Amino acid sequence: MTSPFPQTFPNTRLRRLRQAGWIRTLSAEHVLTPSDLIWSMVVHDGAEPRIPVGSMPDLYRLNVAEAAKAARKAESLGIPAIAVFPHINPDRKDERGQEALNPSGLVPEVIKAMKDAAPDVGIICDVALDPYTSHGHDGLVDENGYVLNDTTTDILVQQALVQADAGADVVAPSDMMDGRIGAIRQALEEEGHVNTMILSYAAKYASGFYGPYRDAIGSATALKGDKKTYQQNPANSDEALREVAMDIAEGADMVMVKPGLPYLDIVRRVSETFAIPTIAFQVSGEYAQIKAAGDRGWIDGERVMMETLVSFKRAGAAGVITYFAEQAAELLNA
Ligand code: PBG
Repeated sequence: MTSPFPQTFPNTRLRRLRQAGWIRTLSAEHVLTPSDLIWSMVVHDGAEPRIPVGSMPDLYRLNVAEAAKAARKAESLGIPAIAVFPHINPDRKDERGQEALNPSGLVPEVIKAMKDAAPDVGIICDVALDPYTSHGHDGLVDENGYVLNDTTTDILVQQALVQADAGADVVAPSDMMDGRIGAIRQALEEEGHVNTMILSYAAKYASGFYGPYRDAIGSATALKGDKKTYQQNPANSDEALREVAMDIAEGADMVMVKPGLPYLDIVRRVSETFAIPTIAFQVSGEYAQIKAAGDRGWIDGERVMMETLVSFKRAGAAGVITYFAEQAAELLNA
């Protein structure tokens, strides 16, 4: 086969374009900026301002006041949006995750405090029951432990409305129930939330990389079994396209691929196939790996952080949800 790009030495020396910083910058195909980042933020309903998360070095659960301060920080760093994840006191968890529907619960409170502090920063809220259920699943379970699709969807619709009422700009269903995007869109329209956006966790895999997150939000010890009957099989790729197509047809404004780095091929396929903003989620386990090796001096943590972040853009992502948002934006602004 002949190449469509005949390149012969020494007419072509590819290293010419790499010889100095200025030409490397000029010929760069992708640039990472703070505006590509979504700050993944864990909040808690206690009084303590900041509680460290053991499996995620330098990450803290923030109380409401600290979260508001962080929103102002996001604004000053040029980070366009924050994705909020709640750690709920175990006393408020139950089988059905009722606390998710409390209009004066942690998430509505955080949304209001952040919007007061930094009205121009977008607030993205996770729609799923796992922070609120005593069993740690994203939905209601039957007597066999199976997560029920349609009854769960009914509750997720109400949860999304509570978030939209509190002022969330984007609701982000991360539960992987079939049909929930359409149901949520319809309810938002009926309630007058016509401009509330939906970022669907469309291609979400049953992944070991979520381990530290379950620790951060306190669902790890609770979780019975795994999430393989609703989250996708890591061996599949075509299935991701079907998930995304369905969510777009049901009204998703943006779609997500999750985890990030091990699924860059999916980011590429989705962003190329569908003309819709595709967001990659660099999840907790990805963060923990880089931090752990960086802290031991086994890799240059900062460098690897930046390398992974630009790789999402190279793969076609419009943005990245990451626990590194603050640190990366500070470096980029320095
Ligand atoms: C669940 C949810 C998860 C994450 C975001 N929403 C974990 C899971 O599915 O168990 C993971 C985030 C991360 O690992 O950083 N609704």
